This record gives sequence, C-alpha cells and structure tokens, in this order.
Amino acid sequence: MEYLRDLESICTSDSGEAVKMEELDLFFSYNARQQTKYQTYLYQTLNNVVPCMNSYESFALTEDKFHTSFVLRRHGILSADFQVCHRDDTQELQNLLQRWGKMIYKPVSGWGGAGLTKIENEESLDMLLPFINKLSDRVLYLEKFVTYDNTDCRVDIVDGQFVACYGRKAKKGSWKTNVTSGGSVFLREPSDEIVDLAIRAAKACGTDIAGVDIIYDEERGEPLVLEVNGIPAFATPEQEKMGLNFNDKKIDLIVEMIDRKTQKA
Ligand SMILES: Nc1ncnc2c1ncn2[C@@H]1O[C@H](COP(=O)(O)OP(=O)(O)O)[C@@H](O)[C@H]1O
Ligand SMILES: [Mg+2]
Repeated sequence: MEYLRDLESICTSDSGEAVKMEELDLFFSYNARQQTKYQTYLYQTLNNVVPCMNSYESFALTEDKFHTSFVLRRHGILSADFQVCHRDDTQELQNLLQRWGKMIYKPVSGWGGAGLTKIENEESLDMLLPFINKLSDRVLYLEKFVTYDNTDCRVDIVDGQFVACYGRKAKKGSWKTNVTSGGSVFLREPSDEIVDLAIRAAKACGTDIAGVDIIYDEERGEPLVLEVNGIPAFATPEQEKMGLNFNDKKIDLIVEMIDRKTQKA
C-alpha cells in the first residue's frame, strides 16, 4: 500500500516512476495550511475515485467556519450563535450588535486567530465598516462574542475515538487562545461531557480525524464547540516534554483506520 502525504509527489514516486494516484488504495492528506489550490483541486478529484482521509467533503467543510457552524447546528450541537450577512447590509450588522452586545467578525477560512475582529460597540463597528465594505468577499460571517474564561479545550478525535485533550490559554489582555496569537498550552483533563461533545462534533462533520475546539459559555453554563479542525496539530517536542504524550496513540489509531479502510473484502 502507498500512503501519499503530499500531492506534490503526485507524478513520480521515490524511484522516479509515475504514481497512478487513481489506483491508490487510499489517499491520506495531512497538509495543514500548505495545500496549494492545485493540490486541493486534485484532492477533490481523487476523492471521487479512491477513499480519502479526511474525505474531501469533510476537509472542505472544516475549512469553512460558516459551513461548519451550520452543520453543527443542524446536528443539534451547541456552537456560538452565528449569522451571515451581506457585506453592504450595514443595518443588519447594527441589528446583530444590538442583539448580541458584542460580536466577532471572522473570515470563514482563517486560522490561528488571524483576521478575527471583535466588535464591542457602535464605534468599533463604524470604524470597521470602511474595511468591511472593501472586502472582496460579499459574505460576512459573524458570531456572538461568548463570555468565557479565555481558555479552551482542544480535543483530538480519530475514528470516533477520544485521543487526547489539552488546554490553551489566551495571553494576558487577549481573548484568542491560539498559540499563534500568543496563547499557551497546558495539560487539561476533559470531562465526559466535553469528550462526548467532541465525538459528536467530529461525527457531524464526517471527519475521520478532528481537533475540536471547545469553550465553556459562562452565560449559558455549558460547553460549546467553536470549531472543528480537520488537520489538528501533533504535539511538538516541547509539548511532549510537558506531558502531552498523545502522538503515538494518534498515529496508531490513524494506521488502524487506514488498514481497515483499505482491507479488500
Ligand atoms: N464566538 C467567540 N467568542 C469568544 N471568543 C471566541 C469566539 N470565537 C473564537 N474565539 C476565540 O478566538 C480563537 C480563534 O477562533 P477560531 O474560530 O477557533 O478561529 P481560528 O481558525 O483562527 O482558530 C478561539 O480559540 C477563541 O479563543
Ligand atoms: Mg481555532
């Protein structure tokens, strides 16, 4: 069996021979944030003829925050209140701000907290409008700002099974837990409720592999899913030293799943 981790190697194998991608037993893609449009297009094509992990559908779904929130809601999974509106619909933006008090504008396909903008009052909305009106994207995705303790749970799920959980804490003065936005990772034991929520979110999105971000909504008094990541990070060597020892378990579960999916009847 051949596992191809990178579509760049689509045309030739190590020995220089052409690899017929459409004859692979399975295509495993784990190329976080580095896929070119070309690679993604081929991933979509391959998905029609060979099993892909994640499937192209769930990969594409989790790459889009609005589509993910929509699917989670349809499956009865609690997420932050959200809405889309047209770029030019200033009135609707004002209505949302009134309804929610504080809200966040999120680019639907961002990562690492980049581009997320908190809108706290009329003045911050007015300041943002000239920027919003110039966006090439017509669709604005907005979420109610959830009151929480500025920590989250990242729960890794593979093949419907719990792999690991760790916490992330926003840096002082920030509300974003992302490590790339200055957040720090800490050891965190999940409750059964959190694990169950993560498993249901991964299933709703059809993801074989998922990293589910969960925060505790202080107003509602319950946890909610912020997003489902289709290519969640492995623990770095520094994090492993801290005691995050889930990499082996995760790899084992992935390999077992690949073996199962490629078993010929
Ligand atoms: N609705 C929200 N209310 C409060 N904080 C939020 C909300 N959405 C996101 N955040 C904070 O911003 C961070 C990044 O948001 P997220 O939707 O996960 O986007 P990204 O793909 O950039 O990680 C989250 O980890 C969380 O700390
Ligand atoms: Mg996130």
